[in-house]
Amino acid sequence: MQVLGIDIGGSGIKGAIVDLTTGELASERHRIPTPQPATPAQVAETVAELVAHFDWKGPVGCGFPAAIQHGIARTAANIDKSFIGTDVASLFSDKTGCPCYVLNDADAAGLTEMRFGAGKNAEGVVLLVTIGTGLGTCLFSDGQLLPNTELGHIFLENGMEGEHYASSAVREREELSWGKWGKRFNVYLQQMEALFWPDIILLGGGASKKFEKYKDKIDVEAVVTPAASLNQAGIIGGALFAAEQHHGPDLTDHPA
Ligand code: BGC
Repeated sequence: MQVLGIDIGGSGIKGAIVDLTTGELASERHRIPTPQPATPAQVAETVAELVAHFDWKGPVGCGFPAAIQHGIARTAANIDKSFIGTDVASLFSDKTGCPCYVLNDADAAGLTEMRFGAGKNAEGVVLLVTIGTGLGTCLFSDGQLLPNTELGHIFLENGMEGEHYASSAVREREELSWGKWGKRFNVYLQQMEALFWPDIILLGGGASKKFEKYKDKIDVEAVVTPAASLNQAGIIGGALFAAEQHHGPDLTDHPA
């Protein structure tokens, strides 16, 4: 089965058709810069542009950078505040004419990794941290997702919010070396460990590709591994979520 997956980020909105049997992209990835300001109307317009680009008519799944409760955005750390309270799923469905399903972007990445990637068949507690404009988190216990964990906003002992101290955006803005940033990120992971004791920590987002450059700074008990799908995980997870919501959990029984 194929579904259009879309990953909505602070700087780019990316989409691709995903083959849900293999978990691989079945088309080229298409990226449109995130409109500024990233208001609901403007973002919906961009999502519709992507749907038109792929000439897509079926279900669409979107990873979105906010807590999403039953399609409604509850937070807006790195997008326009007017998203709070917006029924994002209905807005995108109306604008595109396709049934759209929306979930938190880190949860989307986590679904991908647990189904096809570094968390496949993992038991126990798995924490995925996506490192980007913000820090996104996704928590699984024995393969079961606890959605919308929002642990990038946890306060560290230094009084700072996790994502204000150790996101990729902070590394770029403060021009931190990978080593210096790695030490900060380790403070964040140690805090996560002290509170949740995950067995495995998976890293997603752009900085996960550079893991070799800071892995010697990471000192936690959990096994820490970069996510297998790296930057595509949000797109694939969006598609997985849409297929499950639209057709039910058994994805193998349905024709494309
Ligand atoms: C948001 C999360 C999101 C993360 C990564 C945070 O600022 O609150 O919902 O998952 O950024 O985009």
